[in-house]
Amino acid sequence: MKIFSAADRHLADVLRIETLAFGNGKEAELVENLLQDPTAAPCLSLVAARGGVPLGHILFSRVTLTEAERCVRCALLAPLAVLPGHRNAGIGLALIDEGVRRLTVSGVDLVFVLGHPGYYPKAGFEPAGRLGFEAPYPIPDVHAGAWMVRALRPAVVGSVRGKVAIARALDRPEYWRE
Ligand SMILES: CC(C)(COP(=O)(O)OP(=O)(O)OC[C@H]1O[C@@H](n2cnc3c(N)ncnc32)[C@H](O)[C@@H]1OP(=O)(O)O)[C@@H](O)C(=O)NCCC(=O)NCCS
Repeated sequence: MKIFSAADRHLADVLRIETLAFGNGKEAELVENLLQDPTAAPCLSLVAARGGVPLGHILFSRVTLTEAERCVRCALLAPLAVLPGHRNAGIGLALIDEGVRRLTVSGVDLVFVLGHPGYYPKAGFEPAGRLGFEAPYPIPDVHAGAWMVRALRPAVVGSVRGKVAIARALDRPEYWRE
């Protein structure tokens, strides 16, 4: 499997994967909006392909940690999509790993996600609220475990707390209902 940065010419494939994976066009629309949103930049958009056929996509956008004691660089993972029919073959986790590797190289300290609490811990994420990272919108207690963080450097967790501020394209309450 090959994982590469999505260029403009891959946009149609990316939107198709997002639409088919989620069964509606909402995440495809979010991806298009984030890629055009200066408050989300820099975005990291990766495609996974096998035999030249695109099968998965992941997007990370820039977020900031407000009210924090010091400056840390943060990203948000959303969305992640793998085509039905190609699931449980390691594509999603490979996309997360490659994204995290590239973000680490570029100096990012923390990656946040709101997602399946049974899935993202497989990629090193842990519940963020109890570590002092407040979500952009309140997450009901029953879903608190869905708001997660992965530290890309040692000693970041525990030494900084704050509230995550997201890009304009993500600033809609419906994106924050788990
Ligand atoms: C969630 C998704 C990205 C996973 O991608 P994938 O390539 O199938 O996952 P991987 O092969 O990398 O990982 C497989 C492992 O994750 C587990 N897993 C897969 N989807 C899961 C889910 N929704 N919740 C909990 N665990 C999940 C599998 O059981 C498997 O576990 P195992 O290794 O212990 O057997 C994919 O199912 C998908 O695109 N779903 C629809 C869109 C979506 O929900 N995106 C995520 C939004 S938070």
